[in-house]
Amino acid sequence: MGNIQTKEKINLAVLISGRGSNLKAICDAIVTGYLDRIELKVVIANQLASGEEHARSFGCSYHIVPRTSSDNKTTKELHDKKILAILEKYGIDLVILAGYNQILQHDFVARYEGRLMNIHPSLLPSFEGTLHAQRDALDYGVKMSGCTVHFVTDGIDTGPIILQAAVPIKDNDTIEMLSDRILELEHIIYPKAIKLFSEGRLKIVGRKVFIESEMNVTLIDKPERYLDRMGISEDIRRVLFKKFSEYSMLVENITPREAMILKQEMLALGGDCAVPKECILNNLMPIDIILIGNPIQLQLLVKKLKYQAFDLPELAKKLDAL
Ligand code: GRF
Repeated sequence: MGNIQTKEKINLAVLISGRGSNLKAICDAIVTGYLDRIELKVVIANQLASGEEHARSFGCSYHIVPRTSSDNKTTKELHDKKILAILEKYGIDLVILAGYNQILQHDFVARYEGRLMNIHPSLLPSFEGTLHAQRDALDYGVKMSGCTVHFVTDGIDTGPIILQAAVPIKDNDTIEMLSDRILELEHIIYPKAIKLFSEGRLKIVGRKVFIESEMNVTLIDKPERYLDRMGISEDIRRVLFKKFSEYSMLVENITPREAMILKQEMLALGGDCAVPKECILNNLMPIDIILIGNPIQLQLLVKKLKYQAFDLPELAKKLDAL
């Protein structure tokens, strides 16, 4: 990956086969400024795909490279070479498979090693290598499922895991209900994984992916400038704008569960806390938030955090130092 991480913009290609809702989530995240280091250059489909409309309305290039049904290795490699030629043409740094229903051959995977991601609608390694992961989860009777973003290696759905999000399964769930519940989280964790990549914060060590995430607190002026990159929606922005004070603190790299405690505490103190939508996830991915309050509220917060769970006492020390 080397020099890619220092590039100002990462050139992205998305490969799809169908509906393209993940593609749309990625396009939206670019438009809002959440993926401010990503330039979506091209979408490639391997068949007529309704996701084409998202690529068209976003305004990037769109190509169809028809899938091959042949089992012949040379034919498959030839197919991949056509895609590689397009990726080359656009100077693509990162390739995202979003519902792409064809297996890419070794040469392709090797060429984009560490720069090729996929999303799968299960908590891998459960229900790997299937196009019916949600149905299989229901049939098996598991109580939790979810989705996984991983780097692609030669095996199917077996590459190093970047992010996962879990959803509970209800007794009366249908395949559609479970799929929708999982999809909602796919649309959060795929852009997040791309963002982390674009910030050069993903380190692959063997099978594991480590995310660089040191907790950091800074006093910021013009907090509204940070809302884009946090992916905060327009409606919430309007509410927050009214509350911003000169004592807004940007807290980087805390977990969703810590963020939810901070939100509660700040509201109880009469302040507020701007949190991104990743907060609904019960995992430990690093997120950024903004504490909004006056000096007295922030001092009271420091006192309360000293006795709170997780790494919040450490945050109290950092806030106190400021
Ligand atoms: C998603 O469920 C994804 O996990 C799987 O294929 C589906 C694609 O959906 N790999 P969409 O085309 O992005 O709407």
